[in-house]
Amino acid sequence: MSNIIDSHVEEQIRSATEQFRAMLVEQYERNARIAEEAGRSADDRDNKECTVIGLAPGDGIGPVIMEKTKAVLDRLLEDEIASGRIEFREITGFTIEERLAAGETVPENVLSQLDQCDVLLKGPTTTPNAAMGGRNLESANVFLRKRFDLFANVRPVRIPEKNIDWTFFRENTEGEYALGSKGIRLGDKAGDGLSVDFKVTTAEGSRRIAKAAFDFARENGKKRVSIVTKANIMKKTDGDFQSICLEVAKDYPEITVDTWFVDIMAANLVNKDIRDGFEVFVLPNLYGDIITDEAAQIQGGVGTAGSANIGSRFAMFEAIHGSAPRMVEDGIAHLANPASLMTACVLLLRHIGLADKAAALEAAVKAADDAIGAEMTGLPGGRTCSEFAEIVGKSLLDN
Ligand code: IPM
Ligand code: MG
Repeated sequence: MSNIIDSHVEEQIRSATEQFRAMLVEQYERNARIAEEAGRSADDRDNKECTVIGLAPGDGIGPVIMEKTKAVLDRLLEDEIASGRIEFREITGFTIEERLAAGETVPENVLSQLDQCDVLLKGPTTTPNAAMGGRNLESANVFLRKRFDLFANVRPVRIPEKNIDWTFFRENTEGEYALGSKGIRLGDKAGDGLSVDFKVTTAEGSRRIAKAAFDFARENGKKRVSIVTKANIMKKTDGDFQSICLEVAKDYPEITVDTWFVDIMAANLVNKDIRDGFEVFVLPNLYGDIITDEAAQIQGGVGTAGSANIGSRFAMFEAIHGSAPRMVEDGIAHLANPASLMTACVLLLRHIGLADKAAALEAAVKAADDAIGAEMTGLPGGRTCSEFAEIVGKSLLDN
């Protein structure tokens, strides 16, 4: 033992090594399970007589935007609800208070309700931290994505007047998120020694997101898929992700493929001369997280973008923004923009085979956005969630 590393740190290194071994085994087995799953047939979602849609309003501004969104859905799907084609189910026990009280990211009784649903419409959920008086729990989004293996995070961004029509395929279960709560510190607290987090790329995990992106491109007449990584620095994880995407691309010879590093892609998105040339993007988890916030901001703000989390058996649709607790504290939750959650509904409706309803809702949200989107600032004096929902509802009636 060197005299720099005392017996306490030596013990931490020993236990970290053991932990690392267990993580490698767990992730290697997960890779094998993904391969097995890929071999099974797709689910029978389209043949189901009744689709059960779970509704989880979430925290902060969540209940405000969910209430208005649900009212719009009730109107839009009146016939489907009456005929039993669609059933809504309120998910209970999923607020930050209930999660902290249970000491669980997503309490067991919430999971058993979700197991009974086909899809979930989810409002933003606050990520608990030690300062909230509870344990430092994992984010509910991240937990649910892993629990239901929702590997494809699909995030469209459209700005017709700027000729922008982007669809991001963000890998949703791996990268820095796979073991994000399982990092290692040598030393007893921040500032004592060093800390290490882990990033995981599995071959099968990369293959399935690449296939999802290329299939989408093929089915939607897109001509170009851009692979975004930092493979020049993260040589194993991002290097393999890029190689696997390029391998998958060979099965889609009609589609042009290009590779980009994430930093220059962040610049490309604000480069007006070239950005409208991009169509479909495939990215590892963390880059997808960051780049899609940037893209949403270009569209008009994170309050405007919806997000689909798709797995082979279950799917979750959500706003891409957080619960904005400060808006609630400041008494301005009623100024929250419901466009993001409503756009998530557009993706949900398309996913469950109601393409016409999806198109109608998309047009209505666009009408509201054109009318007052720029004034939905979320700041005192801005237009309200109710006003926005009213325009959406009226536009649905008119068309
Ligand atoms: C998102 C969010 C989440 C993420 C947070 C809330 C954990 O930023 O969906 O983009 O990092 O994935
Ligand atoms: Mg994000």
